[in-house]
Amino acid sequence: MSDRLMNLAAFLIAGPVAHSHALWRNPAHEVPFLSLDYYAEVARTLERGKFDLIFFADRLAVADRFGGDFGVGIRSGDQDSTRMDPVLILGALAATTSRIGLGATRSTTYDQPYNLAREFATLDHLSKGRAAWNVVTSMNDSEAMNFGLESHLSHDQRYDRAEEFMELIFKLWGSWDDGALVLDRARGIYADPAKVHYIDHAGTYFKSRGPLNIPRGPQGRPVIIQAGASDRGRAFAARWAEVIFNISPTREHMRKSTQAIRDEAARFKREDGSCKSLIAIMPFVGRSREEAIEKRDRANALVDPMVGLSTLSAHSNVDLSTLDLDAPVETLQSSGTQSLIAMASRIAKDNAMTLRQIGKKYGESVLVPQVCGTPRQIADELADIFTSGDADGFVVSPAFLPDSFAEFVDGVVPELQRLNVFRQDYGAATLRGHLQN
Ligand SMILES: Cc1cc2nc3c(=O)[nH]c(=O)nc-3n(C[C@H](O)[C@H](O)[C@H](O)COP(=O)(O)O)c2cc1C
Repeated sequence: MSDRLMNLAAFLIAGPVAHSHALWRNPAHEVPFLSLDYYAEVARTLERGKFDLIFFADRLAVADRFGGDFGVGIRSGDQDSTRMDPVLILGALAATTSRIGLGATRSTTYDQPYNLAREFATLDHLSKGRAAWNVVTSMNDSEAMNFGLESHLSHDQRYDRAEEFMELIFKLWGSWDDGALVLDRARGIYADPAKVHYIDHAGTYFKSRGPLNIPRGPQGRPVIIQAGASDRGRAFAARWAEVIFNISPTREHMRKSTQAIRDEAARFKREDGSCKSLIAIMPFVGRSREEAIEKRDRANALVDPMVGLSTLSAHSNVDLSTLDLDAPVETLQSSGTQSLIAMASRIAKDNAMTLRQIGKKYGESVLVPQVCGTPRQIADELADIFTSGDADGFVVSPAFLPDSFAEFVDGVVPELQRLNVFRQDYGAATLRGHLQN
């Protein structure tokens, strides 16, 4: 029996929704998504379930592509209607948790390398080695207009700029050697200057002298996450990332995207297993599959097609309200994320869907597969995907919070442990250690 174990990450947004746009409308109870206690409770539940990572997605603008303003998105509570700063939340969760990895999104297009290097080095120290950064190039003009630009950089230019951003930030995290800190209080020697280095980076997009003003963190540098899935995006992800998130609506797509990631990583001479492919899933746990399906249908019934179209417009950077919402979908254009929109296009065409219908589907789960069953049925399905090599693990996306994670941790995790495909307990102290186990 291989001793390979799957990795589990939890997907969150510090706001009213996640991939499920029904989340804040949970009929069972209010969702206090502006309170720290809420995220602390969620993190405790996930740590109890031995998850590798709690992850917060992020974007830097309200969605105002659809209809040319933010009316629909704000009224209906779409993905961008509220997003608190995830790195601040992780700083607090570093105090209320002790083993689970702490990951958040930051943009290489709108953030500065020196600031980001400081944020994640600080988080890595405060969490004793559990920091992770999801590298995005951002998506749309709404974000660009918050940073003094009229429009978003082109897709591939964003990635070119991101390559240099990564080269620079890795140099900054490497500007203190291991052992640079001396801390000899008696002789008053704080650190060894010979082990701290200027980096003098001068490139096409950035210039930075360094060194970083924070010693090397417990992990050396945070774990790098990415979700690039277009050809350009996947090349970027395979060069830099240790974890690659991906949305694959079908089993065949899971197999192909995981294999493509491994092939690309091999092209960069990455060590086998050093680049984990985590597939997003939205579980609905029931005492029977029928009950689980009813749960899913009740959640989906709360999703208005407009809220999905608002998020789809933000992701594609296209105002879809200018199109006939009840006509069959032609090819959806995008200057935002390419892979997700290409997938939405294909699903709509294959199923002769209208824009309103694909909008509703997008609002239900952003194309993340909704997996329904008893704890054992869901565990068997995930174990089969994992043991067949179609994934190295999963990004668990909640329909409702904290309910969905509690049901998964109390029901599915014990079944995954019984099948010996998931850890019984944390063996490592750092996130990178979890990923290697
Ligand atoms: C699980 C997951 C999390 C993501 N988180 C973010 C995020 O926080 N912010 C963002 O702008 N994009 C996020 N994305 C979208 C990706 O950044 C985008 O789809 C990806 O980079 C693909 O781009 P490409 O197809 O243009 O290469 C996420 C995607 C996935 C699958």
